[in-house]
Amino acid sequence: MRKLKIGLTGGIGAGKSFVGRIFNALGVPVYSADDQAKRWMVEDPKIVEGIRKWIGEEAYLPDGSLNKAFLSDQIFHTPSLKEKIQQLVHPAVRSDFARWVKEQSSPYVLQEAAILFESGGAKQMDYNIAVTAPESLRLQRVLSRDKRDMDSIRQILKTQWTDRRRNAHADFIIFNDGSRMLLPQILEIHHKILSLRKNSSMNKSDHFITLEDRYGAHNYHPLPVVLTKGQGVYVWDVEGKRYYDFLSAYSAVNQGHCHPRITATLREQAERLTLTSRAFYNDALGPFEAYITRLFGYDKVLPMNTGAEAVETAIKLCRRWAYDVKGTAKYKAKIIFAEENFHGRTLGAITASTDPTSYEGFGPFVPGYIKIPYDDLQALEAALQDPDVAGYIVEPIQGEAGVVVPSKGYLKEAAALCRRHNALFIADEVQTGIARTGEMLACDYEGVKPDILILGKALSGGAVPVSAVLADDEIMLTIHPGEHGSTFGGNPLSCKVAITALEVVLEEDLAQKAKVLGRYFRERMQALAQRSELVHTVRGKGLLNAVVINDTPESSTAWDLCVALKEEGLLAKPTHGNIIRFAPPLVITQEELEVCCAIIERTFEQFEKKHTNIASNLKIQ
Ligand SMILES: Cc1ncc(COP(=O)(O)O)c(C=O)c1O
Repeated sequence: MRKLKIGLTGGIGAGKSFVGRIFNALGVPVYSADDQAKRWMVEDPKIVEGIRKWIGEEAYLPDGSLNKAFLSDQIFHTPSLKEKIQQLVHPAVRSDFARWVKEQSSPYVLQEAAILFESGGAKQMDYNIAVTAPESLRLQRVLSRDKRDMDSIRQILKTQWTDRRRNAHADFIIFNDGSRMLLPQILEIHHKILSLRKNSSMNKSDHFITLEDRYGAHNYHPLPVVLTKGQGVYVWDVEGKRYYDFLSAYSAVNQGHCHPRITATLREQAERLTLTSRAFYNDALGPFEAYITRLFGYDKVLPMNTGAEAVETAIKLCRRWAYDVKGTAKYKAKIIFAEENFHGRTLGAITASTDPTSYEGFGPFVPGYIKIPYDDLQALEAALQDPDVAGYIVEPIQGEAGVVVPSKGYLKEAAALCRRHNALFIADEVQTGIARTGEMLACDYEGVKPDILILGKALSGGAVPVSAVLADDEIMLTIHPGEHGSTFGGNPLSCKVAITALEVVLEEDLAQKAKVLGRYFRERMQALAQRSELVHTVRGKGLLNAVVINDTPESSTAWDLCVALKEEGLLAKPTHGNIIRFAPPLVITQEELEVCCAIIERTFEQFEKKHTNIASNLKIQ
C-alpha cells in the first residue's frame, strides 16, 4: 500500500510546522502545502527581486530564507499587500490566484498556501489539512479592528477552508489555539484519516470513491469506476483507462458523450442567457415549443427538468383533465399503473412502484392509484370498468424492470381500451424515447399516439436536465397560469440544447442505427446464449437490450459480471441480481459494436469457466 499524501496548509505562522511534526511522530508523513510557494519565493530570482522591491530587504533573513515573522506581520498590516502578493506570485498561477484573492473579503485568507492550492498542488494530495490560528495575537488585532467575536471568526475560517466549491479546499481544519486543543484535534483527524483509508490502496479512484462514501448520501451503489471524461461511445476513468459505455447514463446520452454540436450549443447559449424563470418570456422557449410539438404531433408542450417531474406533471394533468373535462367527482380520480414500473423517485412516482426498495419506509403514499400486471389486457380492461379511472400511465418497454418488452399489439390495444373507457393513455417514454428502441418513440412501433407523452433523459443528449410533457389542448389547457411550473423548466439553455439534441438524432438517423445495430447485437447475444449456460434470455428493442443471467434476482452474478466487464473495458449495470442492461450511445459504429460483442462474449465465457459449479446453482430453467 503506498503512503498517504497529506498536505498541510495555512497562513504564515499558523503552526503548520508544529502540527506537521506531530503528524510525523504519529507515523503519517505530511507535505507542507506551502513548500512549493516558499521555494519560489526563495529560489525564483524574479520573485525574490519582486519581494525585495515591494516589501523591502527585511523580507529575507541574512541566510536568504524568508523572514516569516516579518512577512506575517506585514500581511496583516499592509492593506496594499494584497496587490503586492498578486504581483509576486508565479506567473503560471497569477491570474487564478488574483481572482481568488479578489473574491475574498477578509485578510485572513491571504495565506501563502493559497498559492499552492491554486497551482493544483493540493489536488495531488489524498487529504489536505488547513491549520489556522484564530486565537493568535495577530488575528486578535484584526478581530478587534473588525469587531468580530472569536466564534464568528472560527466560522468564517471554517467556511472558507472547507467550501468544496473553491479550489482552496481543505478536508480538515485545525484551529491552533496555542496548545490546549491542538493535540486532540490532530488525534481526531489522524483517526478519521486512518478509518477512511480502511482497506483501500488509495489510488486516484479510491480517493474519489472514499470521498463520495464519506460525504455523500448512500442512495446509489455505483460500479467501482470513477469517470472523468467522455467522448461519443467512450468514457475514461481518472486512471486514464478507456471504456465503452453500455449504459449511456440510463439512456440519457443517446447522442454520445459530449456530442460536439450539442456542446457547441451549450457553450454558446451559456454565454448568452441561461435562466430567466417563467416570470418573463425568453427567445428560446417558444422556438423549442414549436419545434418539439411539431416533431411529435401535439398541440402543446409543458417543459420540466427531470423525468420524475415530468411524470408528476402527467399525473396532475391527468387528474385535472378528469375533473374539468371528463366530469369525475372532486378528488375521486384514479390512475392505473403497471406492476414492476419505474417512473422516478418522487412520492407520486414511488406510490406507483411495486418494488419495496423504492417505496418501503416512505409512506404515507398518494391515494387514487390502481396497480395491474404489465402486458395484461384483461387486467387493464377490468380496471377500466371503474368510472373514476382517469388514465393509464405505462412504459412502452419497462426499462428498469429489466427491459421487459410487452407482447406485440399490447400498446395499441391498451390505448384503444383507454379510449373506449374515456381514460387517458399516457406513455412514459423517458427511457424508451428519442430513438433508443429503434423508432423515435417506442409507441411508434404500434402506431400509437399517447394522449400524454412523457419525455426526458436524451432530450438534451445528457448535457442538462430537460424533460417534457406533450398533450393536445383539451388536456394541456386544463392547467392555468400559476397552477404548475418549475423555476428551471423551459430555461433558455435547456431549450436551445434540446433543439440541437433532437436535430442530432434526426440528422444522424439514430433511430434507424439503433434498429439495425440492435438486431445485430441481439443476434450475437442469442448465439452466445446457445453456447453459454450463463445466459438465460436476450431481449430488447433497438439498442435497449438486456441479458438475463441464469441465476436468481437476489444473486450477485450480474453485478460480478459487470465488474468483470469493467476490467475488460466495457461498462454496464445490472438492473437486478440476474439482469444486465446493454444500452450503448446510439452513435456507436458497427465496428465498435462488434468489438464490444467480442468483449461481452469473452468475459462471459471466462466467467463461466471460472465458476464451473454454476450449473449446480441454476435456479431458473
Ligand atoms: C421510464 C422512466 N420514467 C421516469 C424516470 C425518472 O427520470 P429521472 O431520473 O430523470 O427523474 C426514469 C429514470 O430512469 C425512467 O426510466
